Amino acid sequence: MSAVATPDPSSAPDPHSTAGRLAELDRRLDDAVHAGSDRAIEKQHAKGKLTARERIDALLDEGSFTELDALARHRSVAFGQDKNRPYGDGVVTGYGTIDGRTVCVFSQDFTVFGGSLGEVFGEKIVKVMDLALKIGCPVVGINDSGGARIQEGVVALGLYAEIFRRNVLSSGVIPQISLVVGPCAGGAVYSPAMTDFTVMVDQTSHMFVTGPDVIKTVTGEDVGMEELGGARTHNTRSGVAHYMASDEQDAIDYVKDLLSYLPANNMDDPVLYPAGEIGEPTDDDLALDTLIPDSANVPYDIVTAVRAVCDDGEFLQVQELFAPNIVCGFGRVDGSPVGVIANQPLQLAGTLNIDASEKAARFVRTCDAFNIPILTFVDVPGFLPGTDQEWGGIIRRGAKLLYAYCEATVPLVTVITRKAYGGAYDVMGSKHIGADINLAWPTAQIAVMGAQGAVNILHRRELKKVAEKHDDAAVQTRRQELITEYEDTLANPYIAAERGYVDAVIQPSQTRIEVTKALRALKTKREKLPPKKHGNIPL
Ligand code: HXC
Repeated sequence: MSAVATPDPSSAPDPHSTAGRLAELDRRLDDAVHAGSDRAIEKQHAKGKLTARERIDALLDEGSFTELDALARHRSVAFGQDKNRPYGDGVVTGYGTIDGRTVCVFSQDFTVFGGSLGEVFGEKIVKVMDLALKIGCPVVGINDSGGARIQEGVVALGLYAEIFRRNVLSSGVIPQISLVVGPCAGGAVYSPAMTDFTVMVDQTSHMFVTGPDVIKTVTGEDVGMEELGGARTHNTRSGVAHYMASDEQDAIDYVKDLLSYLPANNMDDPVLYPAGEIGEPTDDDLALDTLIPDSANVPYDIVTAVRAVCDDGEFLQVQELFAPNIVCGFGRVDGSPVGVIANQPLQLAGTLNIDASEKAARFVRTCDAFNIPILTFVDVPGFLPGTDQEWGGIIRRGAKLLYAYCEATVPLVTVITRKAYGGAYDVMGSKHIGADINLAWPTAQIAVMGAQGAVNILHRRELKKVAEKHDDAAVQTRRQELITEYEDTLANPYIAAERGYVDAVIQPSQTRIEVTKALRALKTKREKLPPKKHGNIPL
């Protein structure tokens, strides 16, 4: 029986030998992986948060991550920092794959210096962003940070600005997605704000320019972190975030879903699944023939129509909780991604207001930047009336949506299901602002305004006279006659069809079939805007 030898420390290889040098690398890399203290990691887990590396592992295909700059360390000496120089400097950066497609990633490590951004930390992010732009792949930024590393002062601010500039240079070239999975405070919020999508986690993510303490000091307001800048606030009120995840895994899954619809860059194709047979109308298609209620005042869920057109009924909403009177999201038609924008009659009767206009404008531009065709469903009674809307700037802010559609050069297909009134008719992907194929259901009402409003204006004098001579019932009878006359004359799709403002009036159950044919035909669309430095979208 042979005895098992206890390793003798003195038997460690000579550090100057090759074996010693290899062992030294292993030791350093191991230190890099274990840069955060056990206590800090425990604290992180106790908050329901993953560590920086666990997040990368959950995001990327198994074993696909290649780390960059694992051995980078800060060079700062102030405040005794030279005594604590962990490898990696508090951020893990590198590249890997999601569903086999390359992405660059940075993941801020809250367990090291609170994920605060110092010079080397910033340089690492800048470097991986530059790499992503060079190779044309998406960047996913995982944010969990105490902000600028206080000890490093202006150098940290400089590096933030370097990141912001790269966010802008990359904008419209490669998809940029921000996962905010912890604090993201001060000017640091402007990096996620300039990326294409921001995903937050309920209860554990917080974004604000100035925190509760500063607000209390300056304005006297009492507000907690969650109310001020939690995931719910930014998903429902401010519109800063695009998805509220229930936990980090949910957030990561949403990011993967988003990426599945996006190309790697603005010159590349997205993932295209084989187009199937268009076939005959399905049960879901046929259900659309009874979707629209007989009364124009009764709402219905436009998402039913959207899902009927999307492959397998799959539709991924973006900013679902913000401005729910307009629905934006991605689906596939015929195997190819489309961006869908749809007025939602279930909310504010589907009117356009400031929030809906800005939400949809941003989405139109995102789709256009990445060559994703836009499918618009219209049921809009107009812009939402009110002083808060007017004084809040619905004129310039509503103009954003108009501007976004007008400058979009991707294939544009529009389906008017019911109301398309007034200026909102023009805005919502009308033929006149450049849509390629416009379809209307027989239930469409394309007019300057709804029948009630129109009759009140056009026949005010006549109705007044009836009221002077007769009772209320007589007024109502006459009003109804006038409404019916208006609806028969103007509130239908046929006047628009006579002029070619809609290309066809179709049975609702034919929508998927006609939209598919239109998008197939439009695949080769090439449109160029007049040369210019850039337009001047009303901001
Ligand atoms: C240096 C920081 C830090 C920072 C946190 N830490 N933020 N170190 N610079 N900005 C350190 C802490 O000292 C602590 O170190 C460790 O990280 C964990 O922090 P805790 O406070 O223990 O964590 P927690 O209780 O969870 O609180 C998290 C926090 C809080 C809410 C983020 O740390 C905080 O308020 N930090 C400061 C936030 C801030 O004001 N940043 C500047 C924003 S302005 P030890 O050694 O004790 O573990 C900004 C400008 C950007 O960022 C400009 C761009 C233009």
